[in-house]
Amino acid sequence: MKVLVIGSGGREHAICVALAKSPKVSHIWCAPGNAGIASIAECVPLGATDIEGVVAFAKEQKPDLVMVAPDDPLALGMVDALEAAGVRAFGPRANAAVIEGSKSFAKDLMKKYGIPTAEYAVFEDSGEAAAYIREKGAPIVVKADGLALGKGVTVAMTEEDAVAAVKDAVDGGTFGKAGARVVIEEYLTGPEVSVLAFVDGKTLKTMPSAQDHKRAYDHDEGPNTGGMGAFSPSRFYTEAVAAECMEKIFQPTVAAMAAEGRRFQGVLYFGLMLTPKGPRVIEYNARFGDPETQAVLSRLDSDLYDIFNAVIDGRLDEMDIRWKDEAACCVVMASGGYPKSYAKGKPITGLDRVQDSFVYHAGTAVKDGQTVTNGGRVLGVTATAPTLEEAIQKAYGDVHRISFENAHFRNDIGVK
Ligand code: AMP
Ligand code: GLY
Repeated sequence: MKVLVIGSGGREHAICVALAKSPKVSHIWCAPGNAGIASIAECVPLGATDIEGVVAFAKEQKPDLVMVAPDDPLALGMVDALEAAGVRAFGPRANAAVIEGSKSFAKDLMKKYGIPTAEYAVFEDSGEAAAYIREKGAPIVVKADGLALGKGVTVAMTEEDAVAAVKDAVDGGTFGKAGARVVIEEYLTGPEVSVLAFVDGKTLKTMPSAQDHKRAYDHDEGPNTGGMGAFSPSRFYTEAVAAECMEKIFQPTVAAMAAEGRRFQGVLYFGLMLTPKGPRVIEYNARFGDPETQAVLSRLDSDLYDIFNAVIDGRLDEMDIRWKDEAACCVVMASGGYPKSYAKGKPITGLDRVQDSFVYHAGTAVKDGQTVTNGGRVLGVTATAPTLEEAIQKAYGDVHRISFENAHFRNDIGVK
C-alpha cells in the first residue's frame, strides 16, 4: 500500500517511521517532508497547505491513504477536498477541525455539553474585554481565537498585561485574523498533561499520556514555543485520573461533536490541567501534537497503518492497540533565537555519532550533500528506556553528540 503524509516536522517524521514499520506499507510520500524524512520516504515539493496541489498529486499517483498531520490544512478542508476527489484521507474534516481552529467554538461546545474547562468570555471589542479583565482581576489568561502557531496565549499576572495582550491581538493585529476575537479565561493551576486519542466518530482509544514543555528556557521561563520537548508517560496521569477524564471529558467530547453534526475522525488531542478541583480542558487540538508524537509513537507496538484504516472505516472498537511498557523522552534542539527570528542553513554535525536515541528531523534540509538547519525547531532527539530517568539520560547523551551553530535546547525535559 502507498501512503502520502502531509507535513514537514518531527511529528511527520515520527508518523512516517511508524508507517514504514507496517508490512503492508510499500511506499511513503511526504509533502513537503525534510532531510530526515527523505531517508524513508519520497519527499514531494508541495506545501502542506497546497490543497489543489495535493489533490492533483493524489489523483495522479493514487496513494491508498493520505494522512494530513498539521492543523492548517485540516482547518482549510484538505480532508474534505481529498474525499470529494475520491481519495481516502485520515484526519478530521474542516467542520470537526474547528475544535482546534476556533477556541471560542471549543469553549462554547464545552459549556453546552458540561465538559469541565476554565470559566471564560469571548470578545471582539478591546474595551469590553478590558472591562471584563478589571472585573475578574489577575492572574487571567488571554487567548487569540484562531490558529497562532501555539503562540496566541498570554498568561497575564497583572490586569495591565492582560489588557495589553488584548490590545495587541484585537487592535494591533499581532496574530492577524486569528486574534480579532479573543477568549478571556480563568487562570487555573496544576500539572499539565497531554492525552492524544484515536477517534473514529464514536469510539475513542487513548494513547499513553505525555507532557509537553512549551516555554523556550529551563524552569519554564521565556516565551511560549511550539514545544521544546516531551516525555511519556506522565506520572500525574494515574488510572483514577484517566478514568475520570474518560467519563467526564473524552467520551462527552466525541459525543458532543457527533451531536453537533461534526463527527470527529482522526486524532484528538486533549491538553489537560489537573487542577485541585479535577481535570480541566485547556485546549483541544485536532491532530497529533508536536513533539508529543515523537515520544508517544516511539512506544507504539501495533501497526499504525491498520489503526488509521480502522479510524476511517469506523472500526476502532475492533482494534487492540498495544503500547510498549517503557518511557520515552524527546529533547528538541532548536535554532538559537527561536521562537523569534533565527538563522537557517547551519551545518549539523554528529548525527552519525548518535548511540541511544532516534533523531526525528523537523527543520532540516540537505544543501550540497550536507544536512543543515532549516527551521526553528530542528531535531527531536528521542530515547526510550524502562524508566523515564534512563530515557532522559540517553536522549541528553545524544543531544551532546550533535551540534550546529547557536543550537539551543532545554536541559530539564522530563524533570518537572
Ligand atoms: P495553549 O496554547 O492553549 O495550550 O496554552 C499555552 C499554555 O498556556 C498552556 O500550556 C498553559 O500552560 C497556559 N494556559 C492556557 N490556559 C490556561 C489557563 N486557563 N490557566 C493557566 N494557564 C493556562
Ligand atoms: N505540543 C503542542 C501542540 O502540538 O500543539
